[in-house]
Amino acid sequence: MTSTKSVRVQDFKRIVFFTGAGVSAESGVPTFRGKGGMWEQYDYQSYACQDAFEKDPEKVWTFNNMRRSMVGACQPNEAHRIIARCEQDLDAEVTVVTQNIDGFHQIAGSQNVLELHGSLWRVRCDVCHNQHTSHEPSLEDLHCDRCGSWWRPDIVWFGDNLLQAVIEKSMRAIYACDLLVSIGTSAVVFPAAQMPLEARNVGATLIEINPEETRLSSFYDHCMRGPASKMLAELCVF
Ligand code: OAD
Ligand code: ZN
Repeated sequence: MTSTKSVRVQDFKRIVFFTGAGVSAESGVPTFRGKGGMWEQYDYQSYACQDAFEKDPEKVWTFNNMRRSMVGACQPNEAHRIIARCEQDLDAEVTVVTQNIDGFHQIAGSQNVLELHGSLWRVRCDVCHNQHTSHEPSLEDLHCDRCGSWWRPDIVWFGDNLLQAVIEKSMRAIYACDLLVSIGTSAVVFPAAQMPLEARNVGATLIEINPEETRLSSFYDHCMRGPASKMLAELCVF
């Protein structure tokens, strides 16, 4: 493994930033796993799967509204801003493929963002296929304004399939990239975990940014051990 000092983002033409909860950790949004992680405090089977929602939609909505309020009180950090700046300032096609549902990449200015796990701010009606997006910290009206059924958070829960169209767009970007930077993901949730590694098949340079080693670290050309904002500032020198 060589030093990332030899890697200049300016030398690449198609860059994918593949992000997970760690990129928002410095914004104050807790990650899912590890110390202080969401799934340590909340049992995901009671809050983040279709069965739980069907059994007790109010309980799932209380959890979801708590997350909306909590994330809504936080802001994107320097890591999101550096990624947005790459899209704006580099002479390269930059795509963000994210597992995050907080919308921080878009708020920071990234335009080409693919949300693999949906959005905390969007709800859908599975009865009449209505959709609604709002940034209210706590969604007050929990029922579809067209048919009165429960709004369902448009988040990919455990056991759900990812949206095919989003996977296809993400894979197209990954198969076309010459640099992939994976940031702040524990790489344990499939199919997302496996996706960045596909970039190896097209000869891209792969960089992992994470303060900790992950189960997929050995597949990367370079691993930068540290917080996202500091590591991105080192990598992306304009
Ligand atoms: P995890 O919570 O599983 O992992 C967060 C990763 O971020 C860990 O590997 C940390 O070491 C790393 N990390 C922590 N602080 C960091 C920092 N300042 N800079 C960089 N990295 C840092 O989050 P994800 O991998 O995103 O799915 O989790 C994947 C999916 O599992 C989520 O999208 C969510 C969850 O259940 C759904 O909700 C469907
Ligand atoms: Zn409806």
